[in-house]
Amino acid sequence: MIFERRHIISTKDFSREEIDFILDRAGRLEPYARRGGLDLLKGHIVASLFFEPSTRTKLSFDTAVKRLGGTTIGFDSLESSSVVKGETLSDTIKIIESYADAIIIRHPREGAARMASEISGVPVINAGDGAGHHPTQTLLDLYTMRKECKKPIGDLNIAIVGDLRYGRTVHSLAYALSLYKASLSFVSPDQLRMPESIINYLKKHGVELLETPSIDDVLKDADVLYMTRIQKERFPDPSEYLKVAGSYRITAETLENVKNDMIIMHPLPRVNEIDPSVDSTIHARYFQQAFYGVPIRMAVLSLVMGKEA
Ligand code: NCD
Repeated sequence: MIFERRHIISTKDFSREEIDFILDRAGRLEPYARRGGLDLLKGHIVASLFFEPSTRTKLSFDTAVKRLGGTTIGFDSLESSSVVKGETLSDTIKIIESYADAIIIRHPREGAARMASEISGVPVINAGDGAGHHPTQTLLDLYTMRKECKKPIGDLNIAIVGDLRYGRTVHSLAYALSLYKASLSFVSPDQLRMPESIINYLKKHGVELLETPSIDDVLKDADVLYMTRIQKERFPDPSEYLKVAGSYRITAETLENVKNDMIIMHPLPRVNEIDPSVDSTIHARYFQQAFYGVPIRMAVLSLVMGKEA
């Protein structure tokens, strides 16, 4: 298995063995995600280019680099980059690759990270490209399932709820879950169904699949309830957003008949799809999930930069 100098653009580029290898490494690094003490990236610089807002992804990548003894450079908005002066993405990448040992990029345009990887001589990690992919989020999602569920991922009943059309986290997650043959339920309003290309891919790979507009159809049997935010910023027309905003909302009460060990995940930020009353239930795992972003990103960064843990 070779990870050194590899770009991380889509979960589709990885085998199950490779994903499991990354998750195992994250497991070994997790103690250091809290207290640091490693110097695997000592003397190394990682650039994070965020052309779109981010809290967790940006800060957990930053934390991961620093816990590994490296340093970061970068910007966290389009306005603070030279793009506002008219610089092309390809020029930006050509410059940054000469400053840094790896590049993390988040961009509003689908395909931007792939394009950057074709130009860059240092590894590029996709931290979200428009409605496209978000591979490190998927790795931390899988890590959460592995750690917080009582069954192997392949035996889980996973319900994914919300904006399946524009949500990049669920696109990446669906591809990866097809490798584990978990059984999937997709819950969304008709306008926000999972893209047909992904549905066809899953069917071709023998994934057991249910699509429904009703969350009540899945609550009782789910082992994992993966909630998502309706991606307001991706709607071409705000009135279309208003039609589906608030389609799903779970509260502590909604959860009365769910399995005892069902866990609730969310890539965050949440808007109103998970009521705060859920936070103190035995099902909530979204804050824990956000923490797992640190060991996962430590694993990914050290691997692509060729550092043995
Ligand atoms: C997600 C994203 O940016 O795609 N957030 C994240 O990375 N944790 C989900 C979202 O914005 O809804």
